[in-house]
Amino acid sequence: MRKVRIEKLTENMVLAKPIMYNGQVLLREGCQRIDKYKERLEEYGIMQVYIEDKISKGIEENKVISEQLQDECKEDVKEVIENITQNKAVDMAKLKTGIGNIVDRVLTNNNTLVNLFSLKVFDEYIFQHSVNVAVISIMIGKKLNYKKKRLIKLGLGAILHDVGKLAIPAEILKKPSSLTAKEYKIIKTHPEEGYKQFEGRFDISPVARIPILQHHERVDGSGYPEELKGEDIHEFGRVVAIADVFDALTSDRCYRQAWSVKKTVDFIKEQASKEFDDQIVDKLLSFISIYPNGEIVKLDDGSQAIVVEQTEDAYRPKVRIFKDKDGNKLNNFKEIDLSLENNIEIV
Ligand SMILES: [Fe+2]
Repeated sequence: MRKVRIEKLTENMVLAKPIMYNGQVLLREGCQRIDKYKERLEEYGIMQVYIEDKISKGIEENKVISEQLQDECKEDVKEVIENITQNKAVDMAKLKTGIGNIVDRVLTNNNTLVNLFSLKVFDEYIFQHSVNVAVISIMIGKKLNYKKKRLIKLGLGAILHDVGKLAIPAEILKKPSSLTAKEYKIIKTHPEEGYKQFEGRFDISPVARIPILQHHERVDGSGYPEELKGEDIHEFGRVVAIADVFDALTSDRCYRQAWSVKKTVDFIKEQASKEFDDQIVDKLLSFISIYPNGEIVKLDDGSQAIVVEQTEDAYRPKVRIFKDKDGNKLNNFKEIDLSLENNIEIV
């Protein structure tokens, strides 16, 4: 199994996972000739899908959270955010249970390297992004040796971090071109607006509300709303800031295509000492797979390969070569474990 951009769908690819939209199945697993649906999928804002083909046979994703749990939490957070924005009664218990389930999965997960990438549908972006930011934050929290109770508080703050975004007009949030100074100023109100919505609520602990207010603060003081520096930003704020940027950059947005994990990691490392807490960046880098299973990579001898499995070295996974250095398709694929090879690298 691997994921492909819809413009690259060809006739011999079979759908490996159902395509869902608003809880409905658009196309079933096993569906053939999905290349015929390119335009329809694009209309739904679906940019990538999971397929099975000859080169990706037998490859599994290295994910921590099942699609089902991810979906359930997405529905729960959607309900909470929509209700609170409309001043309706909010049931936090359900969301807390969902976060508790994610924490349990993270605590029992023994894979050293995991894939944090998740496919998103444009309309559902904010909710899917929220769940992913919670998962990444909880993974970082585990590396910071947080106990279960603290992980739940962190996860709750992380999943709610962008609650203030629902108060921002959709035409600004979904604008494909760059924002005017005035529009940017409006966007920048979302941390405080979101924070205020949870004021005086006793069903969420004060510390769990911090990421809502502080996820755009940066350790060099260049963030907002309070331009806090270093440890004046709560650790929860510093964790969620990194999780938020990581997931946003690896997602398709209306104004740009998703970045690869490698490109995102290089960017975050570059920024690490400036905008982010570099010790927390190191925690993130200690568990993500730089080249997730199923990703197509080029090797330095010119051949092309697909990532089969993670090894102990995040930069040197096990790969399956399917095109030789002259671009010829191979009939018999060759698998090599890059962690055991010294003279071949991914470029
Ligand atoms: Fe935000």
